[in-house]
Amino acid sequence: MPELEPHRIVRLEDDAVVVLDQRRLPDAEVELRCASAAEVAEAIRVLAVRGAPAIGIAAAYAMALAAERGEDLDVARDVLASSRPTAVNLRWALDAMREDPTPERAARVHADEVQRCRRMGAHAAELFPPGARVLTHCNAGGLATGGYGTALGAVRAAFEEGRVAHVWVGETRPLLQGARLTAWELEQLGIPHAVIADGAAASFIGNGDIDLIVTGADRIAANGDTANKIGTYGLAVLAAHHRIPLVVVAPTSTLDPTAASGDEIPIEERDPAEVTTRFAARNPAFDVTPGELVTAIVTERGVHRVPYAETLPRETAAAR
Ligand code: MRU
Repeated sequence: MPELEPHRIVRLEDDAVVVLDQRRLPDAEVELRCASAAEVAEAIRVLAVRGAPAIGIAAAYAMALAAERGEDLDVARDVLASSRPTAVNLRWALDAMREDPTPERAARVHADEVQRCRRMGAHAAELFPPGARVLTHCNAGGLATGGYGTALGAVRAAFEEGRVAHVWVGETRPLLQGARLTAWELEQLGIPHAVIADGAAASFIGNGDIDLIVTGADRIAANGDTANKIGTYGLAVLAAHHRIPLVVVAPTSTLDPTAASGDEIPIEERDPAEVTTRFAARNPAFDVTPGELVTAIVTERGVHRVPYAETLPRETAAAR
């Protein structure tokens, strides 16, 4: 399968962090050069680079760039940490860079995330029934993780084992990460797919056209409550009602053992103009799915099931 190579998604050059500008996809493959930590923070804020692991990786490269440029590292860390509030990977990557803000350490953060994705994919593929018709939401592919993908990595691994017949792609209003990014990645991978409007998911599930829902996550609390792109909670309720599994695939860098439940996860509220400029609007970027509605949480270490509070915190401790 053609590979969206990790260095094309985000990389460090001598004078800049370079990202594939995800705002321009799928129409144009344009790179954005960020010459300082503040410019990387802005690229994260405007979603030129997005997806929980990918923003952590971009921030890690930004810290290495800041160190090379002689920037004040506390200021750089603060500006990056405040660029987006929900994905805990950002804080995790900044912590990883604290002792050793070098290009080598940042490259290791990047390589480790891609490696984790491959391991998650292998574990998660086992949860796909043969010939599965899968629904995914937002984009949890290589673009979102610096390579390979979490939920889409699982789809990819399962497809290679003959377990995926078709992928339904929720378009993901308002910024269309599904319709623009996930569909683009699936096209490149040669995996059969079709985009549906977010509001169409219920009738597809009700009609028996979907066997499994698989998504990524931005932050998972100790009890399994999962913050992910707005709309995921609704899909989880649908999945429970129609008795199909909802599987969350996410690396240990997305687990937040300091949050006892989803109540402690900050939810980013973005510019209402992303929804409409004509009327008053609200634009929460994420929602929290209660852990009891998540059938399984798959990390690079294996498959977790309810009650998550018994196993997830132990896993985070082991991974750090
Ligand atoms: O606002 P976005 O596009 O950064 O939201 C991303 C998601 O919700 C993804 O599902 C999540 O980050 C997991 S990516 C592997």
